[in-house]
Amino acid sequence: MQLDINGLTPAQFLAEYWQKKPLVIRQGFKHFQDLISPEELAGLAMDELVESRRVYQQAGQWQAEFGPFDSYDHLGERDWTLIVQALNNWVPDAEALIQCFDFIPRWRLDDVMVSFATPGGGVGPHIDLYDVFICQGSGRRRWRVGDLGPHKEFAAHPALLHTEAFDPIIDTELLPGDILYIPPGFPHDGITLEQSLSFSVGYRTASAKDMISALADHLSEQDLGAQQIKDPDRELTTRSGCVDNGDLTRLRTQLTNMLTDELVSEFSGRYLTQSKCALDLPDEPLDITQDEVLAWLDEQPLIRLGGLRCLYFDINVAQGVVYINGDKYQLSAELAAVIPLLCDSNQLDKTALAPWLAHADLLTQLTEWVNQGYWYFEDLSDEEC
Ligand code: SIN
Ligand code: CO
Repeated sequence: MQLDINGLTPAQFLAEYWQKKPLVIRQGFKHFQDLISPEELAGLAMDELVESRRVYQQAGQWQAEFGPFDSYDHLGERDWTLIVQALNNWVPDAEALIQCFDFIPRWRLDDVMVSFATPGGGVGPHIDLYDVFICQGSGRRRWRVGDLGPHKEFAAHPALLHTEAFDPIIDTELLPGDILYIPPGFPHDGITLEQSLSFSVGYRTASAKDMISALADHLSEQDLGAQQIKDPDRELTTRSGCVDNGDLTRLRTQLTNMLTDELVSEFSGRYLTQSKCALDLPDEPLDITQDEVLAWLDEQPLIRLGGLRCLYFDINVAQGVVYINGDKYQLSAELAAVIPLLCDSNQLDKTALAPWLAHADLLTQLTEWVNQGYWYFEDLSDEEC
């Protein structure tokens, strides 16, 4: 799968559009193939591990319901949408779509969301906090996108935050292979013209509020941040009710001094690799031996589980630190060069691993990850995994 951003380089796209303005990308993908059929999608949304919802209007009222769903028979031919989150956690082919956007780092990725809509279907006009590349699969869909502005939002249904009517700066029909990029804050509304599938590659960031609340959990789990404010240099005050500017600085310094690169990476490595949706992991750890891993690596690459989040930081990768699925792993510094192989690509083959495979710790660690289901051998996945 190859992405063509209207002839722009990824660097030009980042400079001109990313987080700045929406863009219609015509034939971003030539000969785009749907990643899943409507029937398979309907089946996926019957699984309780899969996050899904249906949106439709009934007597002019917006309705939203959450899966798993056991039937679609009553829905009719028009005006409804089925949305499944984290398709990439269940459909390995979605990885190839994400890779087209790997000029944006994976810690920013949220998921690939798929929406199946019947004619007239859509989720209504709304604003997202996310950047999204809506990749049109089969069918046609009309999209309207408004400008940034003070758009009033309201709950059209307890689960649907809508925005009031807006003047479009984009009003277009997407055909299979077209892409619509929408940065956060731009109101948009997609109405399906004919039965349609769209695949949305979404990127998230984090609010300070959410990060600070998760940081507080991290500090208490790791028993950190217990230092008290000290003020041996205190000066006399005649205003006992006042927190003066010097004391305000003390309070702020107490908070900011804690935020070293070490703490921020320790915390955010775990935080950013937590998966929002369930992963396709085995119920019980597998029972694969190190010898089997070595032998199978001769035949085929190890593949990273779809949706598994792993990352490293420039500041401590040389010391062997890698974060995977919410946990920190400390490899030996001699194995540091393996970490980018784990995190920058989704396949590990024997040639790339060869220089380090003799290191017992690597094989032990790889085998643990294989048994957890984090990396797998494709040809064995049916029988063994
Ligand atoms: C959809 O694909 O139905 C909705 C996507 C969006 O507007 O965020
Ligand atoms: Co949206």
